[in-house]
Amino acid sequence: MLDEISYFPEDAEIKSGLTDRTGGPGERVAMVTGASSGIGRAIAVALSRNGIRVCALGRNAKALAETVAATQEYVPATALKIDLTADEGMDAPLRYIAQVGRVDFLIHSAGIIHQDRMENATIRDLDRQYAVNVRAPYVLTQRLLPQLIASRGQIVFVNSSAGLAARRPDVGQYASTKYALRAIADSLREEVNPKGVRVLSVYLGRTATPMQEALFQAEGRTYNPEVLLQPEDVASVIAHALTLPATAEITDLSIRPTRKP
Ligand SMILES: NC(=O)c1ccc[n+]([C@@H]2O[C@H](COP(=O)([O-])OP(=O)(O)OC[C@H]3O[C@@H](n4cnc5c(N)ncnc54)[C@H](OP(=O)(O)O)[C@@H]3O)[C@@H](O)[C@H]2O)c1
Repeated sequence: MLDEISYFPEDAEIKSGLTDRTGGPGERVAMVTGASSGIGRAIAVALSRNGIRVCALGRNAKALAETVAATQEYVPATALKIDLTADEGMDAPLRYIAQVGRVDFLIHSAGIIHQDRMENATIRDLDRQYAVNVRAPYVLTQRLLPQLIASRGQIVFVNSSAGLAARRPDVGQYASTKYALRAIADSLREEVNPKGVRVLSVYLGRTATPMQEALFQAEGRTYNPEVLLQPEDVASVIAHALTLPATAEITDLSIRPTRKP
């Protein structure tokens, strides 16, 4: 079920220059889901570039190894091969945190989408999206909450513009999971702000990732990634938001492509 696929030595050279008020390079730790692809991978690299030690979560071992390779230039990184829909897999992140001693950032980027009108949609697709997009981030956050409170950490939920408004007839299932994710984030913020933990939801428009390429293909449209949001730009905004002093919290960010694709 789980398998730690890469672990860079403790004495690996740390090349990042950027530090913030809460720690030097490599001292702070981020757990990033969906780090084997798209936005999650870009976030893992951006955090690493900011001197943060990343634990990259995903199912695809080869793709995870590529993420770790992209981060190792800056700070040692680890990858955990884990299916987020299997509760027993959640022990691996906890073991990792026990090993490194802390977690400061939990970034939820793993997600799946299936678009269909209700008259054609299957309940199986609804359940699969619920499992990955709602249940998994809820369970993982709950498991890591004591450690995040201990570090006065930050939690990021990568949401979607569909989590704010379900404006297309085929987006009901996916949007309902992202609405739920928004509710989890908003309620959690009320719970943990008094303990110094911050919660950020990021509502994204179409971003140039394998998920979006597959959507364009399913919609029978030509995929022009250059007119979409770039995952590196999204990651850079998130990394910047996370460096704010503890007295300031960004609760919600909406990022859209300038031109409607
Ligand atoms: N791209 C967009 O236009 C867009 C727009 C709005 C919001 N979003 C949201 O942004 C997030 C990232 O999307 P993306 O575009 O980067 O998609 P992506 O390139 O398809 O990446 C999805 C990631 O989720 C992981 N994942 C899926 N199911 C999993 C499972 N059961 N267990 C563990 N990991 C799992 C995948 O890991 P493995 O492949 O290794 O399993 C992969 O790393 C998603 O939450 C998505 O809803 C994307």
